[in-house]
Amino acid sequence: MDTVTITDNRTGKSIECPIKQGTHGPDVIDCQTLYKELGMFTFDPAFVTTASCESKITFIDGDKGILLYRGYPIEQLAENSNYLEVCYLLLYGELPTTTEMEGFTDNINRHTILNEGLLRFYNGFRHNAHPMSILVGVVGALSSYYYDAMDINDPEHRNRSALRLIAKMPTIAANSHNYLIGHPYVYPRNDVGYVENLMQMMFSMPNRPYEINEVAVKALEIMMILHAEHEQNASTSTVRLAGSSQAHPFSCVAGGIATLWGPAHGGANEAVIRMLQEIGDVKNIPKYIERFKDKNDPTRLMGFGHRVYKNYDPRAKIIRNSCHDLLNALGTADQPLFEIAMELERIALEDDYFIERKLYPNVDFYSGIILSALDIPLNMFTVLFAVARSVGWVSQWMEMMNEENLRIGRPRQLYIGASQRDYVSMKQR
Ligand code: SDX
Repeated sequence: MDTVTITDNRTGKSIECPIKQGTHGPDVIDCQTLYKELGMFTFDPAFVTTASCESKITFIDGDKGILLYRGYPIEQLAENSNYLEVCYLLLYGELPTTTEMEGFTDNINRHTILNEGLLRFYNGFRHNAHPMSILVGVVGALSSYYYDAMDINDPEHRNRSALRLIAKMPTIAANSHNYLIGHPYVYPRNDVGYVENLMQMMFSMPNRPYEINEVAVKALEIMMILHAEHEQNASTSTVRLAGSSQAHPFSCVAGGIATLWGPAHGGANEAVIRMLQEIGDVKNIPKYIERFKDKNDPTRLMGFGHRVYKNYDPRAKIIRNSCHDLLNALGTADQPLFEIAMELERIALEDDYFIERKLYPNVDFYSGIILSALDIPLNMFTVLFAVARSVGWVSQWMEMMNEENLRIGRPRQLYIGASQRDYVSMKQR
């Protein structure tokens, strides 16, 4: 067995840590016995170099810009698949046969409607609430319904909860949008596809059904495939950690949604548009580039940089092309934002500051332009990211729940606080 030797040079004591190899990617040092044998923890704030689990779902090569879902390159899935088929692949590990896909689609369609009691839940939110706050609340509230599948130790219950979540997220998201703009809720339909359903629930009116635009649906379908799953990112790690305590999957995913909302994570797509709107004109780009580089200025170039990708995010390449095709097909007014984005990308990629730090456009840099070209409101961008990522969250949760010896996640720390001391009464302070 290959090992790494760790020696404490204060005591001369060593331990042999096994090296574990995966299918692709870096090997790992199995240091689970470190504390027991050397009395020390590893120290890796933000988990920059820590593998938290074994997984078969997604592989990312950040240097080569590779992303595989269950071994299939993201470029091939974006080109040939559709979002619901990708959901099946992520959940069950293989591409479905026609019969399997029909059964899966029928299963999803059976769960798209919300319990009517949940619709009253929306009324508790202010009309200027951010829809992500509504999504966190309503998804968390799902666990106060659907008691017929609450036993997370029952594989069938786990599967039913996973399908329910994937099926209901578009309905919950569209209801959030309609509630905030004062429009009536639109019920899901079983005679249209998953992405078409999301669009018609967001944009149909009782007196004017939504006319499905195939170009728009295709662009959103690609977007959702690209956002479906991404290994152990912050929101997925939240879902796994919550799930390790045996919490119900709806509560775990509510935590994932809350994590995704951050502008350093899924909230970046909304922040990119706000940044492009603030820049306003390509001639303003140089002064913004200086701000992004200024250590004393917290402003960052939103949509750039990634913890794993130190090359172009493969999803950003696909989205950039899809964005270009959509804007040309729609002849939309969003061209200026796209032009500012492309010029900003060109300038940034020539600047030493970004080159030295290997900062490239990530999935969020162009996705917002597509969403705004589809007339999706800015505050709904991260909501749609959450809808797309739901399958990734539940797939990772199911994989974890199927582990032989699932244990509660419980990181340790390096304590740097006060030494032990005695209580001093108020009179003596
Ligand atoms: C997503 O993990 C995932 O997989 C996430 C995601 C998914 O699908 O789940 O891919 C989705 O979250 C994509 C990322 C979206 N976020 C943004 O676009 C926000 C802008 N990006 C940054 O906040 C940042 O790049 C992160 C958060 C994405 C990554 O941060 P890291 O890995 O912790 O890097 P860092 O903060 O340590 O930065 C390293 C250096 C620093 O400079 P120095 O201190 O070395 O001089 O790069 C600089 C940073 O200041 N830097 C940036 C920058 N990103 C990093 N400088 C300006 N603009 C930026 N965007």
